[in-house]
Amino acid sequence: GRCTAIVLAAGQGKRMHSKIQKQFLEIGGKPILYYSMECFQKSPLIQDIILVTGEDMISYCQSEIVEKYGFTKVCKVTAGGKERYDSVYAGLLCCQDTDYVYIHDGARPFVTEEMIQRGYEAVKRTNACAMGMPSKDTVKLADPSGYIKETPDRKNVWNIQTPQIFSYDLIRGAYESIRKKDMSNVTDDAMVVEQETGTKILLVEGSYQNIKITTPEDLAVAEAFLRY
Ligand code: CTP
Ligand code: MG
Repeated sequence: GRCTAIVLAAGQGKRMHSKIQKQFLEIGGKPILYYSMECFQKSPLIQDIILVTGEDMISYCQSEIVEKYGFTKVCKVTAGGKERYDSVYAGLLCCQDTDYVYIHDGARPFVTEEMIQRGYEAVKRTNACAMGMPSKDTVKLADPSGYIKETPDRKNVWNIQTPQIFSYDLIRGAYESIRKKDMSNVTDDAMVVEQETGTKILLVEGSYQNIKITTPEDLAVAEAFLRY
């Protein structure tokens, strides 16, 4: 099947508190966004890449990311939206003639070819999967007043990452349907498919290095991983 990667780089990076949006900050001398783009560019499983960024960053991305690093698989650099799910939807609208989509946070530079492969095997079988890793910490559910309500059994608790991979028709249909409703609780794409289609979503092993660069200390961790 044909596979398209949608790489999300339209966020403001508020928790990073930096002037430059975090996806464009450099680690190892290159923008954070470069690393995942390079991985999808090199992967024999990926045919097309759609890069979603801010309206005002489209021309910057064309010249300083796509052209500069020779990302020839990029078929479109498109404008995202206010929320992550708006940006995902914008990316989905740009897909042409694809069987599967890899939805990936541009703020996760450590995606690997092995993960892309595991995702492909899984999505062919199940139509929907999400990368994650078993939680290293115990997770508690809190009640609104700040007391512990419940302790889920740690062996069933996963931290969810991207890429999340879906058959195109399934995720497109799920987004069309959820966009008519309240989306304020939506934080990832698996949720959209869960809620709108009832499809069972397979958890696939990502990696403990596949962090999302979110707050300033993550930059130090990322630099360390590059040397690791
Ligand atoms: N993203 C996007 N469009 C949005 C919001 C987020 O494309 N409207 C992207 C980000 O660029 C990032 C990924 O989604 O690659 C994960 O989101 P997150 O880590 O929350 O990034 P930001 O929203 O930029 O950061 P913050 O929440 O701290 O503002
Ligand atoms: Mg955000």
